[in-house]
Amino acid sequence: MDIIEIEGGRELNGTVEISGMKNAALPIIFACILIKDRCVIENLPSAIDVANSLEILSKMGAHVRMINRNTVEIDCTNLEGGSSPYELVSKLRASSYLYGAELGRFKRAYAGLPGGCDFGGTRPIDQHIKGFEALGAKVSTENGYLEAEAPNGLRGTQVFFDFITVGATINIILASVFAKGVTVIDNAAREPHVVDLANFLNTCGANITGAGTDTIKIKGVTSLHGCNYAIIPDMIEAGTYMSAVAATGGRVCISNTIPKHLESISAKLEEIGCEIEEFDDSLIVSRTGPLRKANIKTLPYPGFPTDMHPQTAVVLCMAEGVSFITEGVFETRFRYVDELRKLGAKIEVHGKTAVIEGGHPLTAATMKAVDLRAGAAMVIAGLAVPGQSVITDIHLIERGFEDIVGKLQKLGAVIRRSYRPDEDFIQGKAN
Ligand code: UD1
Repeated sequence: MDIIEIEGGRELNGTVEISGMKNAALPIIFACILIKDRCVIENLPSAIDVANSLEILSKMGAHVRMINRNTVEIDCTNLEGGSSPYELVSKLRASSYLYGAELGRFKRAYAGLPGGCDFGGTRPIDQHIKGFEALGAKVSTENGYLEAEAPNGLRGTQVFFDFITVGATINIILASVFAKGVTVIDNAAREPHVVDLANFLNTCGANITGAGTDTIKIKGVTSLHGCNYAIIPDMIEAGTYMSAVAATGGRVCISNTIPKHLESISAKLEEIGCEIEEFDDSLIVSRTGPLRKANIKTLPYPGFPTDMHPQTAVVLCMAEGVSFITEGVFETRFRYVDELRKLGAKIEVHGKTAVIEGGHPLTAATMKAVDLRAGAAMVIAGLAVPGQSVITDIHLIERGFEDIVGKLQKLGAVIRRSYRPDEDFIQGKAN
């Protein structure tokens, strides 16, 4: 099993360059299904979810060629609808974008139900289905597959989501790019990656306005053309390194980032005791004094991101006093708590709120990356706590973070990726 070993208790200093945003790259990759032409996507993060998404397109007959580590050429002219490989689809949350993109291009979608991070609760797709049905599709789910059909094509309409959902907003944009007339999405997600997808599609000839507000209008067009496009920087990766500095102390320049996207994270870290200086496309985060307790509720953008919940919990374990983090996006997202308890952290979960009694000395331990962002939180904990910590199940971290070990080494962390035979292997049970 691949593991990360960390000798913690050292400050971080230097500059870290932020990669392209995973959650923007994935919808843009699947949006290429709509385009019978060559697209070149730059600033792609080198992460497992990205590689799996590209493999899905390739297995469906698309031409996919890596030009370099972070640039890919995609041409979906010969892609066959309904042919996605179930095993890969079921590993990824973003594979649900196959439905919108296939429906948009072929008037029929057929693909396995999506996987993705397990936060301990359900991740339904009822709002996606409601949107497809409003556009005129007939949708059914059976035997682990979703099938949607609109033999007479989709027609623009008003889609009102019951609550804010990133995935359904993206899927309805994808499905309605070629729909007849105008589609209006109300109560739309305002996340920067929704805007990035709309910008990409508009560069290819789509007519989408209002992305970044809660009302998005899509005027159907008849075709799209290829383009060259660079993905925006990853705000969650940036926020993760900012939290790492908050937890360890030190001074780090976060480069290739958009400070505007980080406003809720910066404001909270300042409240907790960090100093933040913003520049055009970078910021400097430093922490020299003690940390202060805080109350946080995760919310859709521009609120505090749920994908920063576990990392911030680690920071608050270092702050004297009782802090609260309430999960406002997912049903539950507290699987990280048991792992932090292995360090001696005092955290109780009451309903949707983690109550963190911070400021107690913690001791290094072996922790499991239970999901992508929780895994990043374990790395931050390992960096902050003196002694040798080990993180297992690191493939979950590598789903979304490009070269986290290399980037932290450049900041002075004593961290390495290595291999440890697992129990079955040691006992001769491995086959
Ligand atoms: C995306 C991100 C994920 C992030 C989340 C919220 C990707 C690949 N993943 O996930 O990293 O944490 O946005 O910013 O981009 N819901 C329903 N029915 C639906 C759709 C959603 O009940 O049809 C619920 C979800 O279970 C969740 C909430 O709505 O409780 C928000 O989900 P959503 O914004 O759709 O998240 P994802 O797109 O799955």
